[in-house]
Amino acid sequence: MTTATTNIAARAVDAWKVYGSGEAQVIALRGVDVELEAGHFTAIMGPSGSGKSTLMHCLAGLDALTRGQAFIGETQITGLSDSGLTKLRRDRVGFIFQQFNLLPTLTAEENILLPLSIAGRKPDPDWYKTVITTVGLGDRLGHRPSQLSGGQQQRVACARALVAKPEVIFADEPTGNLDSRSGAEVLGFLRNSVRDFGQTIVMVTHDPNAASYADRVIFLADGGIVDEMLEPTAEGVLDKLKNLDVTAGGA
Ligand SMILES: Nc1ncnc2c1ncn2[C@@H]1O[C@H](COP(=O)(O)OP(=O)(O)OP(=O)(O)O)[C@@H](O)[C@H]1O
Ligand SMILES: [Mg+2]
Repeated sequence: MTTATTNIAARAVDAWKVYGSGEAQVIALRGVDVELEAGHFTAIMGPSGSGKSTLMHCLAGLDALTRGQAFIGETQITGLSDSGLTKLRRDRVGFIFQQFNLLPTLTAEENILLPLSIAGRKPDPDWYKTVITTVGLGDRLGHRPSQLSGGQQQRVACARALVAKPEVIFADEPTGNLDSRSGAEVLGFLRNSVRDFGQTIVMVTHDPNAASYADRVIFLADGGIVDEMLEPTAEGVLDKLKNLDVTAGGA
């Protein structure tokens, strides 16, 4: 039983997602109930195909549940019209993807400001300065993505997500394409934005070390939540994952 509280940033209630039908039917989510707290950094882990991206996409309004409900704050996103969903994604949610998803013809600064300008909003100048300083891009703001390293590009994507102060930032394997040093920089930056600015972040990752930056780790297997861990360590997460693989038959 879930109660409506103001400090839950995103929530799924008996969330089911079924792809295809007949022989080709895949049940990606089987009745997931989860509440993600505001101002927290939550990691979602689990074997490949366990439903991590599906859960995140349905919570973020990028995909629709087959059954059940998803909420951002108090807004039930299941049942929103297309334009309502577009507005929700634009105004209340931020995204960071594994492939950075920057526009190649725009400079770093233009990329960072693009979502706001599409929404017809101007950044708060102090906040913009804080974000730019925190991501540490310095003199690289005038560079295009092809002139930046992978880590720098992902820091641009982080700044782009943060500058609009969304209620939740959803990140799908944000360090999946980065070497460990660049990955650590990006994770440190995400961690600090939660600690210093109260940003809410939900991150899918395969990497126990990346998950150890989170406040809480949720473990998915075969479309359901099977475990969770608070104040995770990389070793603790690794142990849980090993057990998961055993109980899930390595599937
Ligand atoms: N558009 C789709 N059509 C059909 N099946 C899909 C679709 N998207 C995902 N699936 C299936 O749903 C299940 C969950 O997929 P999902 O992408 O959520 O897994 P994941 O945990 O993110 O995996 P990975 O770690 O490999 O990214 C998988 O069996 C996948 O094949
Ligand atoms: Mg995935």
